[in-house]
Amino acid sequence: MAATITGVGVGLGLSCSSKLTKRFSSSTGSSRCSVKMSVSVEEQKKNFTLKNSEEAFNVAKELMPGGVNSPVRAFKSVGGQPIVFDSVKGSHMWDIDGNEYIDYVGSWGPAIIGHADDQVLAALGETMKKGTSFGAPCLLENVLAEMVISAVPSIEMVRFVNSGTEACMGVLRLARAFTGRERIIKFEGCYHGHADPFLVKAGSGVATLGLPDSPGVPKGATYETLTAPFNDVSALENLFENNKGEIAAIILEPVVGNSGFIAPKPDFLNAIRRITKENGALLIFDEVMTGFRLAYGGAQEYFGVTPDLTTLGKIIGGGLPVGAYGGRRDIMEMVAPAGPMYQAGTLSGNPLAMTAGIHTLKRLKEPGTYEYLNKITGELTQGIIDAGKKAGHAICGGYISGMFGFFFTEGPVYNFEDAKKSDTTKFARFYRGMLEEGVYFAPSQFEAGFTSLAHSSDDIQHTITAAEKVLRQI
Ligand SMILES: Cc1ncc(COP(=O)(O)O)c(C=O)c1O
Repeated sequence: MAATITGVGVGLGLSCSSKLTKRFSSSTGSSRCSVKMSVSVEEQKKNFTLKNSEEAFNVAKELMPGGVNSPVRAFKSVGGQPIVFDSVKGSHMWDIDGNEYIDYVGSWGPAIIGHADDQVLAALGETMKKGTSFGAPCLLENVLAEMVISAVPSIEMVRFVNSGTEACMGVLRLARAFTGRERIIKFEGCYHGHADPFLVKAGSGVATLGLPDSPGVPKGATYETLTAPFNDVSALENLFENNKGEIAAIILEPVVGNSGFIAPKPDFLNAIRRITKENGALLIFDEVMTGFRLAYGGAQEYFGVTPDLTTLGKIIGGGLPVGAYGGRRDIMEMVAPAGPMYQAGTLSGNPLAMTAGIHTLKRLKEPGTYEYLNKITGELTQGIIDAGKKAGHAICGGYISGMFGFFFTEGPVYNFEDAKKSDTTKFARFYRGMLEEGVYFAPSQFEAGFTSLAHSSDDIQHTITAAEKVLRQI
């Protein structure tokens, strides 16, 4: 017998099988989908409740593993249960209880011009009239490809895929195909998506959940993955010394965002460039997070170091699912069908995703964009650190353009081991306090934060004032 789920967030008239009806009959009594969106942040603080979110999450837990579709969303490291959202606009988000938040997650990076930008939405509307997927070439692919190639110094040709994970999987196969070697070096605490070869000392959710590795990854898949601490040139030199002629590539986040925010030491990136050249290995910048965020041409433009290959994601899809890898023409011409290295995708180059990407990049290219991001992010980061110190906490942090982070430790933080010295219990208390003040950070000490062009001075000031209050209380 079919039934309609009428619980929180699912009052859409959906039918489900009796299997589900039985399980949820006690927890899905009422429909609470309509949310009042006009409540001021001050008013909400007085009435802060996550009752609807709790109910929705209780339903979700029975439907999806851990109640989420990506692990870091689950709030495991900060306690409580995730907030279920209803809508986003600009720098703000609204949950299904009607609470409003200033958002520093930005959908984990894509929302750099602000959520649900009017121009992006209008362009998507126009594209949608022509259809949502062709499974065949479209002109929009040329437009975005030209924009990416002219922006990112290392990219002479590009292949679009559907996620950062796919981009990193593709680029790894390509680096191995081109060099005829199998070993790769990655850095501890860097995250390159969830493909098997990268799940060794990985950051992001893997770090957040304290998992050293993942069951299900065959030993053979990670056998050729070597790791070194970030910012450690001599460790790298030793790896090359001990694996002469066998290393295909080094892959790294040029600024780490998946262990919290960790910047490279001066000259670290230059040293890696030199070492890879000397050893006939390729240098891959995973710019899924930093691409179009640190500068229009990404970390490689910002630091003036050009890798052989680059991965992109997040921003280039403007909030729709996109990834990309690209680089030197002689390497990229190995990719099928130009060459023998096979990689494919049903939805790759999807017209909607290309549209959102094109209009996001257009906005980013306007003068003053990165100066503005740098200014507000600097004020925010410094404000939080000052507030922390004033309240007597060990705290350090950093930022570049629209990317930032702070740790509850004296610092300095140069690598994942340093990051792990952070007081994560204190971070969790800080996190919960900030939620009640209407500020939404990533629910983990080991994730960078993101600002956007939609963040106003008022947003930043509100956040600092909230941080001062919460840091005095914890
Ligand atoms: C640097 C980096 N590479 C790869 C990925 C994987 O991207 P996706 O989650 O789109 O698969 C991420 C995701 O956060 C990332 O930050």
